[in-house]
Amino acid sequence: MRSHYCGDINSSDVGSDVEISGWVHKRRDHGGVIFLDIRDLRGIVQTVFNPSLKKVFEMADSCRSEYVVNIKGKVRKRIDGAVNPKMLTGEVEIEASDLSIFSSAVTPQFPLDDYQDVNEDIRLKHRFLDLRRPDVNQRLVQRSKITSEIRSILEKNNFYEIETPILTKATPEGARDYLVPSRVHPGEFFALPQSPQLFKQLLMIGGLDKYYQIAKCFRDEDLRADRQPEFTQVDIEASFVSTEEIIEIGEDLVISLLSKFTDYKKTSVPRISYAESIEKYGCDKPDLRIPLQLKDIAELVKDEEFKVFSGPANDPASRVVALKVPEAATMTRKKIDQYTDFVGKLGAKGLAYIKVIELDSDNGLQSPILKFLKKETVDSILRTLDVKNNDIIFFGAGNAKIVNLSMSSLIKRIGEDMNLITSSWAPCWIIDFPMFERNKDNHLTSLHHPFTLPAVSVNELKDDPDNALACAYDFVLNGYELGGGSLRVYEPSMQKEIFGILGISNEQANEKFGFLLSALSSGCPPHGGIAFGLDRIIMLLSNTTNIRDVIAFPKTQSASCLLTEAPSVVSNDQLDELNISSTLKKD
Ligand code: AMO
Ligand code: AMP
Repeated sequence: MRSHYCGDINSSDVGSDVEISGWVHKRRDHGGVIFLDIRDLRGIVQTVFNPSLKKVFEMADSCRSEYVVNIKGKVRKRIDGAVNPKMLTGEVEIEASDLSIFSSAVTPQFPLDDYQDVNEDIRLKHRFLDLRRPDVNQRLVQRSKITSEIRSILEKNNFYEIETPILTKATPEGARDYLVPSRVHPGEFFALPQSPQLFKQLLMIGGLDKYYQIAKCFRDEDLRADRQPEFTQVDIEASFVSTEEIIEIGEDLVISLLSKFTDYKKTSVPRISYAESIEKYGCDKPDLRIPLQLKDIAELVKDEEFKVFSGPANDPASRVVALKVPEAATMTRKKIDQYTDFVGKLGAKGLAYIKVIELDSDNGLQSPILKFLKKETVDSILRTLDVKNNDIIFFGAGNAKIVNLSMSSLIKRIGEDMNLITSSWAPCWIIDFPMFERNKDNHLTSLHHPFTLPAVSVNELKDDPDNALACAYDFVLNGYELGGGSLRVYEPSMQKEIFGILGISNEQANEKFGFLLSALSSGCPPHGGIAFGLDRIIMLLSNTTNIRDVIAFPKTQSASCLLTEAPSVVSNDQLDELNISSTLKKD
């Protein structure tokens, strides 16, 4: 039904007979001549209809936006003055000799011709129209190319693509499960996988040696701009490997993609320990494009009268940090108030600051906290931070988790507001993660997942689980966690110990993970792996910060599909068949 894609026709086709198929992008009537711009996946070309071909002309006249048509004609150069440099095909047009209309179309719910900003909910509700917009469909084309490149890199490295079940038992990755009721086993449920974690380990125990999968994962968790309830992982696992080897495989994969699809110039990827990352950036996914760091100043302020600082400085669960922002002392009061509100929303009780106007002058500092601090203390803070005239220092003091969250977010906010981003790409590895962290109830929970190999022996783990490190690593790019993985426990005794520390009784462990424990005792190779978020990779490589932009049919922030209106109510018959009754009262 076509000899050419619309967007591919150019000056070299002048004089050729062509046939195109696509959508009417725009219809214009110019003094008796009708122009139809025809659009397909590759672009837009102008076609011209002359009244001398009466029947064809009348059909062209009846066409409206988004009609689907087939046009035959001859390519010709546009006359001088009619060349459109904004169009790739702007030097040529097709003099139409024949037209057929495949489908008519109602007026689209939003204009597709001007690429105006359209509300995202409306775009998602009519995603089939939205997909016709080049910026939307080209990201999906890019997604396909990147996915294909990933497959080719992994296959070159002798990984086998193996599918794992979607209807399965819970695989804990820290989120809630999506459950699927079983009809044939009344009262029982499958869980959709949060990741293929346990199956990929079982594949290693089964001797498959090197596995990968472009795997759908499902997590019922709070959504953010870079999270979807249903997303895709590039999931990788290998046997008889060290941390170093997995890091090499992961790094080779992402760096190859960056080199192929962006202007990234290959450099070595820095490795930062989890502890150092928290100390310097307040988080485990630093955006290294922003040259701002936190500095602990608890030692300098621990003997001060000013309780806002000395209180947290003397509390092991708290922190006092300073954040120097160079050349920003002219920042307005209004801006500082905005930043104070910003950290306040993240739990901080305030945001103290010192503006350094003139270091050598008696009144060269401006700050609401100078009156609370000894001059020597202020001097030592200024020295430690190596401040210059015109710098501003912000301070965060309080519970370490709150200080880390609020000050790391402030770094990102100021980095963006002040345009401090120094390069396009700043990847890093975060290594030496702790095995566990304490939750609100002071219980130990896995920082990664319970199958992660500790970097210590069973006895050392038992003696001091709080300080045990894990053989785990995350790949971070521009402040996004792109991937994470670990070496795995391969001895049943270690696995049982970890379950015990997590408060999972033997009985529960057997009920939930009996199949894993039995597999571990059947001859398990040392193994490890990593999973990258495919959607996040595509998102970053296609220069957007909204994960929904790179998914054909994404869900909203409230985990629903506006297009199909899923999730939706099901009939009582269906519920009866599944032995399910809803406790929700219908209006
Ligand atoms: P993890 O939970 O870190 O590890 O997930 C791996 C990567 O998947 C991406 N990701 C998400 N992307 C979009 N929406 C989400 N809701 C979402 N959740 C995670 C992130 C993340 O880095 N089984 C382990 C991997 C392993 O140990 O090999 C796992 O799933 O980019
Ligand atoms: P206050 O004594 O609460 O009036 O605070 C004095 C100054 O310290 C103000 O500039 C506050 O913004 C700041 N401040 C208060 N609490 C904190 C905190 N937890 N971290 C950083 N600065 C704070």
